[in-house]
Amino acid sequence: MTDIVLLPGDGIGPEIVEAVCTILDKAGADLKYHKYDIGQTAYEKNQVLIPEETLEAIKKYKVCLKGPVTTPIGKGFRSVNVNLRLAFDLYVNLRPAYSIKNISKFENVDIVTIRENTEDLYIGEEHEIADGFEAIKRITAKASERIIRYAFEYAKKNNRKKVTCVHKANILKKTDGLFLETFRRIAKEYEDIISDDKIIDNMCMQLVMYPQNYDVLVAPNLYGDIISDLIAGLVGGLGLVPGANLGNDVAIFEAVHGSAPDIAGKGIANPIALLQAAIMMLDHLNKHDVSEKILKAVLKTLQDGKDLTKDLGGTATTKELMNAIISNL
Ligand code: NAI
Repeated sequence: MTDIVLLPGDGIGPEIVEAVCTILDKAGADLKYHKYDIGQTAYEKNQVLIPEETLEAIKKYKVCLKGPVTTPIGKGFRSVNVNLRLAFDLYVNLRPAYSIKNISKFENVDIVTIRENTEDLYIGEEHEIADGFEAIKRITAKASERIIRYAFEYAKKNNRKKVTCVHKANILKKTDGLFLETFRRIAKEYEDIISDDKIIDNMCMQLVMYPQNYDVLVAPNLYGDIISDLIAGLVGGLGLVPGANLGNDVAIFEAVHGSAPDIAGKGIANPIALLQAAIMMLDHLNKHDVSEKILKAVLKTLQDGKDLTKDLGGTATTKELMNAIISNL
């Protein structure tokens, strides 16, 4: 058995985590789950958002499957996700998304977003000024270089043809200017991979008009966050797309979506995004046979189109969709 840390999280987290673990077990993933609290659930018990024992477990087992965590909007504490990414220096946020027949609005989308995960506006440094507030956008040479290098190495290993840098260096000449300059310098080391860059606003338009032209995207934190949700919309919505937070030592796998408070507790959340994250985790653990088996069952269930949750236009519950995937294993 392989040990992993399981963090059910908040909102729809526990519902989708339960469905995903049932599927993993039925598929023979042979995982031992070490379950810990995080987020509001942890806060309600012990007034701590990330308990020390949760951090210790992640440090020990190194691989973690995580449900979404609620962050209060406009007030309260800094995001648990941001803190977790900083605690383990998880500098890569890897978000693959591809078209699925009968499900996606757009055909031929196959894009991997590689988002810098440790700095930019997400450092959360905001200050009061005379008539409002200002926020610090931090872009360093070290963080830019390692994420851009990761993107080119990822492209090389996965036989991808092109890497596009997303930025706003026309306005942010120093911060995004440094990111773009680093990209152009490193691109020269990878002659076999096409490299280009797009300003974030144009990138959004290009992604909706011509998504088939894009392959691997590398972006600072905020733009990466926004475009990966946009791309999720191209392929069928937030209920489908996964993400991996990767450092040199620890890997945390989760869905791109949040805790969906509007549907929490109703038993109708789509578990596929988290299941896709679990598939990435199985590949990370070199359990390729099981990951392939689950992926085939997911794609067959989506193509059958009978047991889809509301976000995909169906009426199935989380459990009904889970059972359909299990019967297709
Ligand atoms: P959200 O992603 O939770 O929800 C956006 C919309 O998508 C909602 O209508 C929701 O019902 C729907 N949706 C999301 N996941 C779904 C699923 N699996 N099945 C069916 N429908 C689904 O984004 P929102 O509402 O902006 O954020 C809610 C909370 O989640 C906030 O506190 C936010 O900070 C947090 N969040 C946490 C993340 C994480 O833990 N990695 C990522 C994004 C947001």
